[in-house]
Amino acid sequence: MPETWWRGAAIYQVYPRSFADGNGDGIGDLAGLRSRLPYLADLGVNAVWLTPWYPSPMADGGYDVADYRDIEPTFGTLEEAEKFIAEAHELGIKVIIDVVPNHSSDRSAWFQEALAAGPGSAARQRFWFRDEPGDWKSIFGGPAWTQVPDGQWYLHLFAPEQPDFNWTNPEVHQEFHDVLRFWFDRGVDGIRIDSAAVLVKDFDGGDPDGYTDQPEVHDVYRGWRRLAEEYDDRIFIGEVWFPDQERFARYLRPDEMHTAFNFDFLACPWDAAALRHSIQETMATHIPLGAPPTWVLSNHDVARVVTRYGREDTSWDHGARRDGVPADLELGYRRSRAAALLAMALPGGVYIYQGEELGLPEVDDIPGELRQDPMWPRSGYTIPGRDGCRVPLPWSGGEPPFGFGTGEPWLPQPEAWNKLTAEAQAQDLGSMLTLYKTALAIRRDRLGDGTLTWLDSTPEVLAFTRESGLTCLVNLGSEPVRLPPHETVLLASGPLEGEELPTDTAVWLA
Ligand code: GLC
Ligand code: CA
Repeated sequence: MPETWWRGAAIYQVYPRSFADGNGDGIGDLAGLRSRLPYLADLGVNAVWLTPWYPSPMADGGYDVADYRDIEPTFGTLEEAEKFIAEAHELGIKVIIDVVPNHSSDRSAWFQEALAAGPGSAARQRFWFRDEPGDWKSIFGGPAWTQVPDGQWYLHLFAPEQPDFNWTNPEVHQEFHDVLRFWFDRGVDGIRIDSAAVLVKDFDGGDPDGYTDQPEVHDVYRGWRRLAEEYDDRIFIGEVWFPDQERFARYLRPDEMHTAFNFDFLACPWDAAALRHSIQETMATHIPLGAPPTWVLSNHDVARVVTRYGREDTSWDHGARRDGVPADLELGYRRSRAAALLAMALPGGVYIYQGEELGLPEVDDIPGELRQDPMWPRSGYTIPGRDGCRVPLPWSGGEPPFGFGTGEPWLPQPEAWNKLTAEAQAQDLGSMLTLYKTALAIRRDRLGDGTLTWLDSTPEVLAFTRESGLTCLVNLGSEPVRLPPHETVLLASGPLEGEELPTDTAVWLA
């Protein structure tokens, strides 16, 4: 792959707890992941992104990191992680890991030291300790300040088990530089930066949102970029999201991050005008900066796309999650297939969240007592949260645990997933898995980095060509539309009706 592999990469997101279990304890791990690397190579992705794999009490699925330089023991060891990186590289797969700079776990050595050292100590200056709580709310619900036994309060934008670092303290900057080097030295190709825009806090401005996008946060990433430039070809991907494209774009300046997740596209309803607008805005923001856009349909924080596109309201909103809202899964499935061809045809990188290639729906009937997401208790048991998209993958066989491992999975899998296993789909030419695999193979040579040219079409059809001559058409209208002149149909998300493209169907023509 060329030096700029990441500009057009297909990146597969692994949520390690739910990918594959190698030792039978019901929890995914590195042994399981390593054994399934051939599956990922066969699928044809260019890179994997793993959500946090560090030692963690799992108060927030690993986003509560207790030690940034080691591996969670239920996942494996540092030595295994190094083997995994080497094996992935042998298969031509790049490795991206998640770094969480906004907060650590309350079990981290630093936070424990801060608790022991007491008020006024240097150890407390690494976090935000105060004698009085502020009035900010936690993003997971409830107050953002928690009191410790000696009477002081500390800030946590997320769960109380996730104390926020004080990014005005140079020690914190130094620590993260060391952490980046630790992983770059071990061959990691890229870093996904968690909650990237909220590191710097302005407590005095009176803004309830005074942690979002403070100007000094850019200095953090400029420092990181300088560090990455000392290595060859290492990249940063920001978890950054603002409706304001100008503010968003600042994170993609040439001396900051390489790319960011396209949440605007992810949140967009299944509607031609809205999608066209989102695509155009994305291109307009990225192209002048020379940063490749990314196209994301789902991740470990949002409802699975088959379910989302089957609902009456197909948009996504972190604030109004619509957990449990009924969905027409057949409709959602059909649209997801079309959306996959759209996302994979657009210029730039594409993300595939594990199970998306299997067409898994959201699991919305997990019994309350089995739910693990802190959103559930923090919302007073009103928001079920994100477990429904984190259910362990079905690999093979006719009943749970569907080859995930030998033990009982940490979240229950629906019986109906017997039709959705990777094994069942592998030989089925009409399956979601086959669609992804075929599309990724075509994408390798003809799509990825570059630009697009819109074609004339009716408002309910998205139609564009790419430099390679590939034309992508998506019909979001209620009537079939005629295909433009072409030599071959390379791939379609569903059956064509002669020379017509049916509703909720996408096609790639050459
Ligand atoms: C990001 C992660 C999410 C996590 C949060 C706090 O949004 O994607 O899973 O809960 O950050 O770290
Ligand atoms: Ca395991």
